[in-house]
Amino acid sequence: MKVTVVGAGNVGATCADVLAHREIANEIVLLDIKEGFAEGKALDIWESAPIGLYDSRTIGSTNDYSKTADSDVVVITSGLPRKPGMSRDDLIATNAGIVKTVTENVIKYSPNAVIIIVSNPLDVMTYCAYLNAKTVPNKVFGMAGVLDTARYRSFLALELNVSPKDIQAVLMGGHGDTMVPLPRYTTVAGIPVTELIAEDKLNEIIERTKFGGGEIVQLLGTSAWYAPGAAAAQMVEAVVRDQKRIFPVCAWLQGEYGMNDIYLGVPVVLGKNGIEKIIELDLNDAEKALLAESAEAVKVVMNVLDNMNATA
Ligand code: LAC
Repeated sequence: MKVTVVGAGNVGATCADVLAHREIANEIVLLDIKEGFAEGKALDIWESAPIGLYDSRTIGSTNDYSKTADSDVVVITSGLPRKPGMSRDDLIATNAGIVKTVTENVIKYSPNAVIIIVSNPLDVMTYCAYLNAKTVPNKVFGMAGVLDTARYRSFLALELNVSPKDIQAVLMGGHGDTMVPLPRYTTVAGIPVTELIAEDKLNEIIERTKFGGGEIVQLLGTSAWYAPGAAAAQMVEAVVRDQKRIFPVCAWLQGEYGMNDIYLGVPVVLGKNGIEKIIELDLNDAEKALLAESAEAVKVVMNVLDNMNATA
């Protein structure tokens, strides 16, 4: 299996490192526009192979997409990260141009690849990639829900002082402040979380989750990479190993949840064909209202992209 990660910045390099350490693909290409940067990162990862005891080959490329040819999965992390005070949506003008060019190059050399978008603003950059990839929507989707649920689960594990392994959760909506963690679908080793954590505490954790990316930006002065990189790698694994895992993923909706022509976070089954099924939960009215609000926020930014394209 061959996996390409475009963008050798913190998120891309972390993703490649996790893919290599877990031997998720036997060939991993890291590509960046900055001269020598991807080669340096790929070499550094390869040099840790005798220590980590893996044999996945990591190869770097300075913008030479021919090296990415025939990739089974491509992860796109390119674009500027957030700085303190910025929302993910502030990045649209710069990152839309980057994601468009990258997607066109990717699809030229790997027309059958599954493409996973990580660039922000996530939902709209996934839409941008879909418009430019001109492939089926089940093969173009975004990484956000795996990261956002990981944050939510990590906070719940801290609160309960239990293993994060035992916390299962679903979270829906856009990758922004309107994301919708769903306590009704959150369990701790099968026990509904609402039986273990008081409502006000749970609400605090939900709020912390929504602003989880911003919390890291405040601390670091730039956006996160360990959890985002690992989240993207876990999605790659589900595809290359055809695992049929259920993850919240930014997916193209055509009637599901009563929505059309929008990329939004929903639970899906991930396997070798990318999104193999979108799971429709029986949301209650309050949950539906939160999801609608999140969809509205994503639509606003999608319209910005559509208008940019119309005037381009
Ligand atoms: C975050 C960025 C990657 O949530 O969107 O940390």
